[in-house]
Amino acid sequence: MSDHSARSTARSTALFDQASAVTPGGVNSPVRAFRAVGGVPRFMASGDGCHITDVDGNTYLDLVCSWGPMLLGHAHPQVTAAVQAAVSRGTSYGTPTEAEVLLGEEIVARTPVDKVRLVSSGTEATMSALRLARGFTGRAKIIKFAGCYHGHVDALLAQAGSGVITLGIPGTPGVTEATTADTIVLPYNDQPAVTEAFAQYGDQIAAVITEASPGNMGVVPPQDNFNAFLAQTCRAHGALFISDEVMTGFRITRSGWYGVDGVEPDLMTFGKVMGGGFPAAAFGGRAEIMAHLAPEGSVYQAGTLSGNPVATTAGLTTLRLATDEVYAKLDETSATIQRMVATALDKEGVPHVIQAAGNLFSVFFVNSSDSSRPIRDFAGANAQVLPRFAAFFHAMLDAGVYLPPSAFEAWFVSAAIDDDALAELESALAPAAAAAAAVQN
Ligand SMILES: Cc1ncc(COP(=O)(O)O)c(C=O)c1O
Repeated sequence: MSDHSARSTARSTALFDQASAVTPGGVNSPVRAFRAVGGVPRFMASGDGCHITDVDGNTYLDLVCSWGPMLLGHAHPQVTAAVQAAVSRGTSYGTPTEAEVLLGEEIVARTPVDKVRLVSSGTEATMSALRLARGFTGRAKIIKFAGCYHGHVDALLAQAGSGVITLGIPGTPGVTEATTADTIVLPYNDQPAVTEAFAQYGDQIAAVITEASPGNMGVVPPQDNFNAFLAQTCRAHGALFISDEVMTGFRITRSGWYGVDGVEPDLMTFGKVMGGGFPAAAFGGRAEIMAHLAPEGSVYQAGTLSGNPVATTAGLTTLRLATDEVYAKLDETSATIQRMVATALDKEGVPHVIQAAGNLFSVFFVNSSDSSRPIRDFAGANAQVLPRFAAFFHAMLDAGVYLPPSAFEAWFVSAAIDDDALAELESALAPAAAAAAAVQN
């Protein structure tokens, strides 16, 4: 496997070969494989604050933060101490524990949900929320939006086809047409498409699920009160509005995107930050709906490691440390980084659009004719000059900054980023912008 890197990648390369022999593509989650940008994925050995260090001893400023969870940075001393103490008491009992009650209370206090159920991944959270919505309403159909990712739930992997209303077509082999037959995929931010779908299927629609503010096609915030419109439309037709805050929850504000637009969903899903770097996620909502879950109600949902005492301790400690001051710092850091990136790209004449949702943001490498137009849906996000992003990504990596290895992802900041880290970023940006400028469209 070749690599473009100026840094040593000998040990990462050897591990990638070893990994490829025992696991498909050498990774346990596809984007990690660097397929979108080329080259060898870096195998990380440690993290400290806003830095991660790979097995070859290269250190990087981390702007991925484990795809969101590491809000406070890596190996935060208080989180580490709490986790060590929890581990020393035993790691799983398969019984209720105090930490999961406290984490549930923290989530209920921060968000509009009355009750939560803890699970182990965001995928489980959205899958279970859908099942509950269908069980509660007695209806089958769901609406999702193209470009929104809700984990690898079969029914939610359906992609949009052409036309305003597209009945789900499986987006990946292994997902059957029967599984997605009840999934309606619509363009994001498209209110007439939603109105039309409800006009046609209104009494069959169990739920609309959307990312609260999408970050999985790059950051594409809701426009023209899209969430409020969805909530109202659902209410008018007896469907549930599910807001997926797995990425945004506890990251953008104390609650998540809810803290920005205040639209109250019927059900919400959470993950990432609330696990503090461990596998913990949740779904929650109105008490009346949550009462339909087993053992109180008849909609079944369960998990051997749900509410795991180590994961819930990490999540609870993280959330308790995530104060208003932390969120103010994250906002400021994010705004500074966005300005620095824009300045560097402008200097080299690289057309781009930077979009933010609170402290989440992404940089779209667009054609020059598109650089003054906001990206409002998946089609817009798809119109990027992808080789330009790849060149930029690798130049940043060579200069010691770790970005998401895909042009369709958000950049994540941590509260551990300080002025020294920003200076590191500044010196990486100049060669990276030049590398992007060198790519002809
Ligand atoms: C909005 C959203 N929902 C759900 C998921 C799935 O979460 P997990 O990867 O923990 O299964 C993700 C993961 O990135 C996400 O961003």
